[in-house]
Amino acid sequence: MSAIDLKTEIPGPRSRELFARREAAVPRGPYNAAPIFVKEGRGALLTDVDGNRFLDFAGGIGCLNVGHANEAVVRAATEQLQRFTHGCFHVTPYEGYVRLAERLNALVPGSFPKKTLFANSGAEAVENAVKIARAATGRPAVLAFEDGFHGRTLLALSLTSKVHPYKAGFGPFAPEIYRAPYGYCYRCSYHLEYPSCRIACVDALEDYFKRYVDAEEVAAVIVEPVLGEGGFVVPPPEYLPRLRELTSRHGILLIADEVQTGFGRTGKLWAVEHSGVVPDILIAAKSLAGGLPLSSITGRADVMDAPGVGGLGGTFGGNPVALAAAHAVLDQMEDGALFARAEAIGRAFAARASSWEQRFPLVGDVRGVGAMWAVELVKDRATRAPARDEASAVAKRCYERGLVTITAGTYGNVIRTLMPLVIGDEELGEGLEVLEAALGA
Ligand SMILES: Cc1ncc(COP(=O)(O)O)c(C=O)c1O
Repeated sequence: MSAIDLKTEIPGPRSRELFARREAAVPRGPYNAAPIFVKEGRGALLTDVDGNRFLDFAGGIGCLNVGHANEAVVRAATEQLQRFTHGCFHVTPYEGYVRLAERLNALVPGSFPKKTLFANSGAEAVENAVKIARAATGRPAVLAFEDGFHGRTLLALSLTSKVHPYKAGFGPFAPEIYRAPYGYCYRCSYHLEYPSCRIACVDALEDYFKRYVDAEEVAAVIVEPVLGEGGFVVPPPEYLPRLRELTSRHGILLIADEVQTGFGRTGKLWAVEHSGVVPDILIAAKSLAGGLPLSSITGRADVMDAPGVGGLGGTFGGNPVALAAAHAVLDQMEDGALFARAEAIGRAFAARASSWEQRFPLVGDVRGVGAMWAVELVKDRATRAPARDEASAVAKRCYERGLVTITAGTYGNVIRTLMPLVIGDEELGEGLEVLEAALGA
């Protein structure tokens, strides 16, 4: 039986009606990847208000690694809802917060003592990590990367690279933010080739510290181990270790932004585990609480304790319902089966995509790690001119045929896949078929 089941043209009449209301009642600012109004989600499937069933390769932008309406998550959250919904950790603390902190402290790489703070979103985790790094080092500057994405609040947005539509018109931005090229080999800023480049993009930072900002002024380097919004760019294996060496040499803290890469997406709990790199601070969000809003900031205990009492927090940070859901998510990660599943999804994607570069001139690059795979589309393989409109057309063709996908990349020309890791083999195959047909069309 097919997982995809379309009963109306897409979008259906109820979705169209709701979309008209959405346009009248909600600002145009929040982008909608597909004009489909959801009624229900289960595993890797979404049912819309017209009764159409879709395969979900977006997972609410990577928040549903354990699947929609995951049974254990729903049970844990429901039980907690019935006990108490909010107490505010600042007023009367609760065990779930401390216990999840203990669990993450044990699971985040690093043999040193660690502490964890909770917030609500990825952007808030970024903001807190920077506050903590500044307090711990007494230095003002933060170095981020081209094509990096760290959120939409003022400081997080200042760290985010992509101008349109994220930054244009929203300045002035926070000061003391610096930006250097990432290890994006397909579009190398230095026009070099890996491996003969010998990771010149990291070496260039020594020069950067002479020309733009003194290394002694830099509190932290914030880096995504694999670019998420930036187009699922997997840097060369030496990249993160070299960055770690450089930051350690200059007393700069390394913040790993694992908001999109964490919780099994890349085939390990954390993407930094592939490189063996131990960051000073690691932040997570998205799939941490199975779709409920929760983010974590975990770091070296001495660093995390730098801000004074009352210097960190927020009313809702570490909401007990979201924490209960996160415990249920972690319980399901412990045996490693979902990581193996992520690897299997990646293998299936790579096998399917292996012919795309030959068959479809539009496909410039296919890349990924674990279940974090993407296709970068180009108008011309020689010039690598980004095929943005074509990527939008592929995504539209996909949802019209029952597959929800999202695009990424500074040029909007990347199709990325963030399917729940619980997706079945047949569902995965069916989704890849729809994607392949859309690329062919
Ligand atoms: C790597 C990364 N950091 C931070 C964020 C911001 O997270 P949020 O949208 O929850 O604020 C995102 C969101 O996509 C992200 O991918």
